Amino acid sequence: MTGSDIRQRFLDYFGQRGHRIVRSSSLVPGNDPTLLFTNAGMNQFKDVFTGQEKRDYTRAATSQKCVRAGGKHNDLDNVGYTRRHHTFFEMLGNFSFGDYFKQDAIAFAWDLITKDYGLPKDRLYVTVFETDDEAAEIWHKQEGVPLDRIYRFGEKDNFWQMGDTGPCGPCTEIYIDQGAGQGCGSASCMPGCDCSRFTEIWNLVFMQFNRDSAGVLTPLPRPSIDTGMGLERIAAILQGKHDNYDTDTLRALVLASAEATGQDPDGPFRASHRVVADHLRSSAFLMAD
Ligand code: GLY
Repeated sequence: MTGSDIRQRFLDYFGQRGHRIVRSSSLVPGNDPTLLFTNAGMNQFKDVFTGQEKRDYTRAATSQKCVRAGGKHNDLDNVGYTRRHHTFFEMLGNFSFGDYFKQDAIAFAWDLITKDYGLPKDRLYVTVFETDDEAAEIWHKQEGVPLDRIYRFGEKDNFWQMGDTGPCGPCTEIYIDQGAGQGCGSASCMPGCDCSRFTEIWNLVFMQFNRDSAGVLTPLPRPSIDTGMGLERIAAILQGKHDNYDTDTLRALVLASAEATGQDPDGPFRASHRVVADHLRSSAFLMAD
């Protein structure tokens, strides 16, 4: 599947299950002084989660343009040197505003990636927030994920928030094992390890709180769902690549940079071509917005 096919399949899947397909919002948030650039799919729904804004739908799905080049989620310094970092990327997400919660969010995600996208279950792992017995039980009893493939982590890995303030909550993440050959070889290598063996595919956030500027958590009016899956990452996995820059969309830009400069795309200027490919996307979409 091309990147476009993967995006369309995602939106069709959720559209067929009662979700309103909402256009990506601008990379420059219209009304949010806490954010310079849009950094997640949920940004445009922030006030819906907190109950300040009402929409005529309670389920939505988007492919959201994101830039992570500063603030809480900042990947700028890694771009070009790692296989998976970008300043600009697209985030596929489904959202529930007080509609479905953990059970359905997990069922949708597992169904889409194992059936529609056809990822083998025996290469998938999940993580949950350390005290979230409910999510662990849903993964095990409802989806049949073996207990030894369910890991529990603390706030750093399994509690998501868009910034210092705003909607937030415990999350569960789905990982794929890319094989021992991609790993660090350590006996303790597991999902969450910094090496390239276990790749995080999808983050499902159980939105339950709003954090204020004093750091105090207030429960949201209705428990909600916010998910985020990087299109470039899932494209690499589905296209059998170990590097996002080898997927159809990004490779075309790397090759264009190589052609324009007369430099081997995979030679000594490999990282530079990647920086060019990435920063062109950021600057083009930022200027457009
Ligand atoms: N909002 C979920 C994520 O960005 O991972």
